[in-house]
Order: sequence, then C-alpha cells, then structure tokens
Amino acid sequence: MILHKKHVIFDEIVYDRQKLINFVSNFKDCIVKHSDWQKTLSGGTQSYEVPDGYNAIDTTKKEGKFPNEYFEVQELLNKFKINIKKEHIIINHYDVGFWLRPHTDHACKCSIMFPILPDDGDAPLVFHDVKGDYTIATDYIDYKDNIDYVMNYNTKHPTLFTTQVPHSVAKVKEERIYLKFMIFDYTFEELIEMNKRGELIDNTK
Ligand SMILES: [Fe+2]
Repeated sequence: MILHKKHVIFDEIVYDRQKLINFVSNFKDCIVKHSDWQKTLSGGTQSYEVPDGYNAIDTTKKEGKFPNEYFEVQELLNKFKINIKKEHIIINHYDVGFWLRPHTDHACKCSIMFPILPDDGDAPLVFHDVKGDYTIATDYIDYKDNIDYVMNYNTKHPTLFTTQVPHSVAKVKEERIYLKFMIFDYTFEELIEMNKRGELIDNTK
C-alpha cells in the first residue's frame, strides 16, 4: 500500500487491465447516461442529477447480468474482504470533453478505481484546497483553481481515494472507461487501518 494524503495505491494488487479491456469490448453498444444506469439499479427513480458525458456501461442490456455477475469483476471483488453491493459497482464511461467540477460526494465515502481505457488512464483526479471543514454533497466550483494536488491514475494497481474531500476530474481527452467500487460503509482512513491489520485485502484468491 503506497500512502498519499488523499489517495492510496494498492500495489499489493496487480490487476489485468487487458482482461478488462476485452471484457468491456463486449458492451460497446451498452453505454447509457449515468442517470439511466441509476434508474436500472433503483427501478425507476433517479437519485441525483449528473452532467452530460458521464455515462455507465449497462451490462444488463446484454444478458440481464450486473457487473458483479461477471468473472472479470468477481475476481477483483474477491481481492477485498469487505462486502461491496452490486449497486456500488459501476463501469464508468466518460465522453471526450467531459470534466467534473469540484465537489464532495454524498453517502459514498471513498472509491476504489481500476482504470481500463485509455492506456495512460487519461484525465487525472484533482484534489482541491478548501479552507475550513468540508461538507458532504457540496459543490466547490469556487475552488476550481485552488489545487492541493493532481493525481494521475496508476494503471497496474487499483487506487483508493477519499470522495469526502473536494475533488474534480480534469477534462477527458480520450474515451475513458473505469471500473469503480464505491465504498459506503467505511471511510478512507478506516480502510487504511484495516489494510494495515490485514483485514482488507485477500491476495490468496
Ligand atoms: Fe465524486
């Protein structure tokens, strides 16, 4: 585990990005707006508004199966000893030109990211400096130019980052596809402590 202020690289896990590229290539015609993916998950209601260009790969369009029902995703889920619900596993697709304004997430406390395409992971994550305490589910557009640090994704090892601090996604230059596990039950700090105790990662599977 390589520790940084607001993100961690799990270098004890090596994921097979090519295997994920092959996997997502089966779903080229299953790209939907993120809001439609929310509707698929929740049976009709949309929990929050997301900007255009932020999409998901709806695997259910092929065989009715959610991402967690595919071996390629299962073997990565099995690397973690915590339970991650199927609704919290998403294959994100980002259009060229998309950028995500600075914000904090709502109930999601941190995310584990597996960049799939393009080869260099494309747009980095940007952490912003905000004075005072952060509030969840808040827009921090006024802090667009207050940059704490820029994080280029590792494309060999998964990255955990806290979504409770102001963050944004830089402008996407190439079609970008990421597998994301959203964590609602543990904070970033809790996962780090669990990993130090050997309670997070299981590399035997
Ligand atoms: Fe976010």
